[in-house]
Amino acid sequence: MNSPVMQGLNLNTPAYVKNAKLVAWVAEMAALCKPAHIYWCDGSQEEYDRLCADLVSAGTFKKLNPAKRPGSFLACSDPSDVARVEDRTYICSARKEDAGPTNNWMEPAQMRATLQPLFDGCMAGRTLYVVPFSMGPLGSHISHIGIELTDSAYVAVNQKLMTRMGKAVYDVLGAEGEFVPCMHTVGAPLAAGEKDATAWPCNPSTKYIVHYPETREIWSYGSGYGGNALLGKKCFALRIASNMGREQGWLAEHMLILGVTNPQGKKYHVAAAFPSACGKTNFSMLVPPAGFEGWKVTTIGDDIAWVKPHADGKMYAINPEAGYFGVAPGTNYHTNPNCMASLDKNVIYTNVALTDDGDVWWEGMEKDTGKLPDHLIDWQGKDWTPQIAKETGAKAAHPNARFTVAAINNPALDPAWDDPAGVAIDAFMFGGRRSTTVPLVTEARNWTEGVYMAATMGSETTAAAFGAQGVVRRDPFAMLPFCGYNMSDYFQHWLDIGAKVQAAGHTLPAMFCVNWFRKGADGKFVWPGYGDNMRVLKWMIDRLEGKAQGEETLFGVAPQYAEINWNGISFSAEQFKTVTSIDKAAWSEELQLHNTHFQQLAYHMPQALLKTKAQLESRLAAV
Ligand code: GTP
Ligand code: SPV
Ligand code: MN
Repeated sequence: MNSPVMQGLNLNTPAYVKNAKLVAWVAEMAALCKPAHIYWCDGSQEEYDRLCADLVSAGTFKKLNPAKRPGSFLACSDPSDVARVEDRTYICSARKEDAGPTNNWMEPAQMRATLQPLFDGCMAGRTLYVVPFSMGPLGSHISHIGIELTDSAYVAVNQKLMTRMGKAVYDVLGAEGEFVPCMHTVGAPLAAGEKDATAWPCNPSTKYIVHYPETREIWSYGSGYGGNALLGKKCFALRIASNMGREQGWLAEHMLILGVTNPQGKKYHVAAAFPSACGKTNFSMLVPPAGFEGWKVTTIGDDIAWVKPHADGKMYAINPEAGYFGVAPGTNYHTNPNCMASLDKNVIYTNVALTDDGDVWWEGMEKDTGKLPDHLIDWQGKDWTPQIAKETGAKAAHPNARFTVAAINNPALDPAWDDPAGVAIDAFMFGGRRSTTVPLVTEARNWTEGVYMAATMGSETTAAAFGAQGVVRRDPFAMLPFCGYNMSDYFQHWLDIGAKVQAAGHTLPAMFCVNWFRKGADGKFVWPGYGDNMRVLKWMIDRLEGKAQGEETLFGVAPQYAEINWNGISFSAEQFKTVTSIDKAAWSEELQLHNTHFQQLAYHMPQALLKTKAQLESRLAAV
């Protein structure tokens, strides 16, 4: 393949890249973005090490003490660039109705006209990295290829850990293969001879995270952080993939996937949707507590599931990712020992604090050591001491500080995590962060009731997105910021998939609604959570096996106190009541909120869900 020369810039296309459409696109984008250099990533370890060294020289990375965290780095972002920017995220479908009321929308032509001048020259003075990646195992029929063009070396090295990234992608792509084009720039062009004034270039005032579902394109401007910049994750594997799934009859979900094996060796698979920073990574790596000898939980994925009904009547799930971009604060050996073990080596940390001996620290680690460190450099580069924290409330790590780590670091990794066939799902779980109202666990009586539970899920907002925190917002299926099309059509898609499996005479996975976050009068969580969530998981399996009778509530079937395995803890029937009680007044209010939510989604709202709501209302009235 010839390397066309663009305005004196050599494309440097490697000989192994044979896809003419790709080369033409890179040439076109280079002509638009006007980078100083083009570099095609091959995904090798040598390349990773070199790019990390470049990032150290640029000041973006600090190399951590190799005796403490071998092969690991710390990046601290610009304070304006610390989380996903939901109000700057757009679904630019041809018709506004197809984006729906929960997404920002702009007419595609108007958005293109808006982005064109921003992207014109946006990479001046920088290198354009061509990052080839596969979401899902390389070459598998369920996988999809993306090519991210980015001016951020930080993104390139993160993609190496988070996806199957590198040269082998081009073998799969071949001369004719399809790929999702993912454009990314930090939006901080450099003038001739100008050097970066900051270690985290970004555009503090202008950000756009844009999706064109019909043409399956992603354009991201101005941010270098997480889901805004690692375009394989939320942009591709959720927003674009949900559109693919809608067309092709499968589901792209914000779900962890785990395997759970009982002492007799029987294994089940569960996929669970919890909103951002609500415990997916934690639950996917759960260590069963004392009292659960012989039980084992293994991780298939911690954030995203692609779920496909198969001809055998089962629903198979794969994790399209190959690494974890997880929340650091709150993670410690008590809450998530497998995660801590994953973080020993070869990790990129973002926005955590630096210790005086070149290690990392975040809030929650004091639970392991029994004390706070005497001195740290916080995520903004300032001195931090317990005294300063006490006086000013300053956090050493940003609440949305994250680690990036390859899945192979996880000691609880499931042997099938990389299996192109996926794992057959036995149960779906849906759970938000609710300090009141929603009980610990209930099982839906049927698929439609499960879809209703998921569709009306609420959660108190967290630091994973920019904006107000601690406010209850409806987050249907934990997909509010990630569904790439009209939310009501998405509900219908879930109903349709269930109906199809059932019509073929197959049993659908069970569906459960959970809430680990009920608080007591003292404002503290009542449920111990973390490893103790195994108690709920076991009850769910007992339900699958027909061993737990449960009891009917207005919102599904709940466990009886005696049906939970309480080995190893003391949790009284009274405490159980505080996390499971269903309060009539609170539920009347809750149903009002469901009403408002459904009114907002009235266009294409499935009748079946309105009917389910009416049934719930009459059950409540009868209480
Ligand atoms: P994203 O990566 O943003 O999609 O989030 P996630 O759902 O993977 O969240 P993660 O597992 O990283 O959990 C984030 C926060 O939830 C941390 O602060 C945890 O300490 C807290 N958390 C997780 N599980 C539990 C639990 O069972 N109980 C309580 N109280 N907190 C929990
Ligand atoms: C989330 O916010 O749900 C995440 C982190 O998983 S990010 O990749 O930044 O979206
Ligand atoms: Mn997530």
